[in-house]
Amino acid sequence: MLLWTLTWMLTVMVVAGLVPMKVLEDLPSGGYGNILDNDGRMEEKLVLRMKPANYSGPHHLMDWRGKCFKHRDSKYEYVFCPFHNITQEDILAYYDAYKGVLGVWSDWEIRNNQFQAMNMVEGSPCANDTYRSTKVYLKCGKESELVSITEPNKCRYQAVFMSPEVCGVNAMVVYPRLPTNLQVRWDQAVNDHSLGYITQKGYDKELRRIFTAAGLILSPEVLFSLKQKASVEKSKSCQSDLEAARARIIQLEEELRVKQEVIRELHDARIDM
Ligand SMILES: *[C@@H]1O[C@H](CO)[C@@H](O)[C@H](O)[C@H]1NC(C)=O
Ligand SMILES: *[C@@H]1O[C@H](CO)[C@@H](O)[C@H](O)[C@H]1NC(C)=O
Ligand SMILES: *[C@@H]1O[C@H](CO)[C@@H](O)[C@H](O)[C@H]1NC(C)=O
Repeated sequence: MLLWTLTWMLTVMVVAGLVPMKVLEDLPSGGYGNILDNDGRMEEKLVLRMKPANYSGPHHLMDWRGKCFKHRDSKYEYVFCPFHNITQEDILAYYDAYKGVLGVWSDWEIRNNQFQAMNMVEGSPCANDTYRSTKVYLKCGKESELVSITEPNKCRYQAVFMSPEVCGVNAMVVYPRLPTNLQVRWDQAVNDHSLGYITQKGYDKELRRIFTAAGLILSPEVLFSLKQKASVEKSKSCQSDLEAARARIIQLEEELRVKQEVIRELHDARIDM
C-alpha cells in the first residue's frame, strides 16, 4: 500500500515536473525483488506442511537424496525429489498458474517382502480437510526417470519412477535388511501363522510393528512430530518475514519523508522564482 502511494506520488510529481526524472532511479526496489521472478511473474513460494522423514530403506538408494526428477504431461510439470517431496505445476496457465505439493516423504509401502513404493503425504490442501498424497512405485528401467503420474482418486496420486537401482531380485528385498532381532520376530510370526496360532490379520499387524520398529513405516507419533516441526519452522519464518516487512516500512516512511521535503523545497524554489 505504502509502495503504491509512493509510486503514485512520484509519478504525479514527475508528470507535474516537480521532480527531476532521476529521482525515479531511487524508487525502492527491494520490496519487489522478493516476490517477482526473472520473468516478472509472481513467485509463489511452496511451503511443506511436514518436515520430510529421515532417509530409510535400501542403502544403495541413498544417492537419490538431494536429486530431483522431472516429468511433463500435456498440462503439468511434476518434480519428484526422492526422500523429500513431489510437486506439481500447471504449465498451461499464462497467469496465476497452480503450483502445489503432492506429498512429502514419509515411509515405505511394503508388499510381499519388497520395498514397493515411496509414500509421500501431507501435500497441499484438498477438499474436506484432506491433503494431497502420492505413492511413487519403483520399477526397473534403464534410466532413473519419473515416467508417469495419475490421479486414480481425488487428490490421491500414483507415480511410477523407473531406475536401474531397483532392478534384480535382491535390490528391494526387505528381510535381509532388517536387524537380527527383527528378523527373529518375523521368523516367529511366520511360524505362528503357519501353525494357526495367529490369524492372517494378526500376522499382518505384527509385520507392521516390525517395519515400524525398523523405521521403514512411521508411527502416528513420529508423523505427528514431523508435522509439528514444520509448523514451528513455518511460524519462525513468518516471524522473520514480518520483522523484515516492518523494517522495510520504517525505511520507506523515511524515504517518503525525505522525498516530501524535496518536493516542498522544489515547490518553494518555484514560488521564489
Ligand atoms: C532423524 O535423524 C536425526 C539425526 O540423525 C535424529 O536426531 C532424529 O531423531 C531422526 N528422526 C526420526 C523421526 O527418526
Ligand atoms: C524438494 O526437495 C528438493 C531436494 O531435496 C529441495 O531442494 C526443495 O527445496 C524441496 N522443495 C520444497 C518446496 O521444499
Ligand atoms: C467431501 O465431502 C462431501 C460430503 O461429505 C463428499 O460428497 C465429497 O465427495 C467429499 N470430497 C472428497 C474429495 O472427499
